[in-house]
Amino acid sequence: MEKLVLDGGVPLTGTVAASGAKNAALPILMATLLAPGEHRLANVPDLADVSHTLSLLGRIGCPSLAGSTTRVDTTRIAFSEAPYDVVRKMRASVLVLGPLLAREGAAKVSLPGGCAIGVRPIDQHLKGLEALGCRFVLEGGYVIGETDGLRGAEIHLDMPTVTGTENIVMAAVLAEGTSVIDNAAREPEVVDLCNFLVTLGAKIEGIGTSRLVIEGVSRLTPAARPYRILPDRIETGTYLAAAACASGDVTVTDTDPSELGAVLDTFREAGCFVETTPTTIRLRRDGPVRPFKLRTEPYPGFPTDMQAQFMTLACVGVGTSEIIETIFENRFLHAAELGRMGARIETHGNTAKVHGTGRLQPASVMASDLRASAALVLAGLAAEGLTEVLRIYHLDRGYDDLVGKLRTLGARIGRVSDAERDPARIQQALVA
Ligand code: EPZ
Repeated sequence: MEKLVLDGGVPLTGTVAASGAKNAALPILMATLLAPGEHRLANVPDLADVSHTLSLLGRIGCPSLAGSTTRVDTTRIAFSEAPYDVVRKMRASVLVLGPLLAREGAAKVSLPGGCAIGVRPIDQHLKGLEALGCRFVLEGGYVIGETDGLRGAEIHLDMPTVTGTENIVMAAVLAEGTSVIDNAAREPEVVDLCNFLVTLGAKIEGIGTSRLVIEGVSRLTPAARPYRILPDRIETGTYLAAAACASGDVTVTDTDPSELGAVLDTFREAGCFVETTPTTIRLRRDGPVRPFKLRTEPYPGFPTDMQAQFMTLACVGVGTSEIIETIFENRFLHAAELGRMGARIETHGNTAKVHGTGRLQPASVMASDLRASAALVLAGLAAEGLTEVLRIYHLDRGYDDLVGKLRTLGARIGRVSDAERDPARIQQALVA
């Protein structure tokens, strides 16, 4: 296993390009199952989660060729099953449920257990698919579903679940008749999936709103031209937060500022200068970080996937910031690790009060989940001296070439075996 080593306290400057969005690429790859044939997808990020998804599709019988333009051939499905050893690595594997039920009328998917940030049930996924005519049994840790044919239905979601909306949309596009999903998620990644489905011949109205109306069709076919995955707004926000935490002047290109309204407003509240064009965002921070307040919400509110990165920002600020997490019940695990770097954070239930001390100390810290690991990397960039971040497999799931991109911004950062103790070799890894 590897760890990250960082020599922090260096202001970041320069330009970095956003990659394609993980949380759009995963459902879109699953959606290729709905239209038998060869699919081409452009701007697919190079991530562990994308590799897991392609290997799952391979297990189902659909070969693929990874790359910035990825090819997937879904002509034939051999097995309608997502086994435990795949699902335990990536919860999003549950997104195979809707497409398999729509295409094959049957699916067996290992139940995604809880994860570090919360219990994360899938009751809304099952409720929606049942309304469309599926029957489910839970057996041996698997959800086993079947249908005699999907029929349109009116579905009201108890909460605007992202992957729940995606699973139900992917089934409804091939259902007989019209479906309505009320209180649907409005995240840009859900919009990107719907736009992709439309290129396959699906009929969806209200894309981007909380009310989706889907008129089922009898078949879908692969698009003639490659579909381009939208830029990753969370990756974009993470590089901007790196400049805010370490100070500096950074521009992210190939991105979409209109999807980051709440995030950019909070950067400004924290004392950062932010400038945008239709496809770029520039952030400069050269004065002190001011305290701020944020509350995570479903889109277009402040994204929970940026909460951890902003907790690090609050730590290097001067004064008390308040962070309220409303989406996941256990998403402050990074607070204890930041505490090891000298942060002063009080958490009570879903509220964290961060008493910024203006600086962090270098230390060895451990990642617990994808975004918590990003927060610890930002803390290492801000803290003068050597920081080590362990369990970086979490990072590889969702950040494409993080070390390479941060180096182009001037960061002293590298990967070494987590057993590495030799200072000379660690120094070498920071630049090599
Ligand atoms: C998606 O997860 C993202 N993952 C998450 O990103 C993101 O944090 C989350 O949406 C919220 O924006 C992908 O898109 C692959 P939800 P998802 O269903 O769909 C509860 C990252 O870092 N709920 O919108 O699993 C649930 O427990 C990841 O990239 C139910 O109770 O999130 C949570 O409290 C982490 N029953 C809330 O709703 C259900 O059936 C929102 O969850 C479904 C959800």
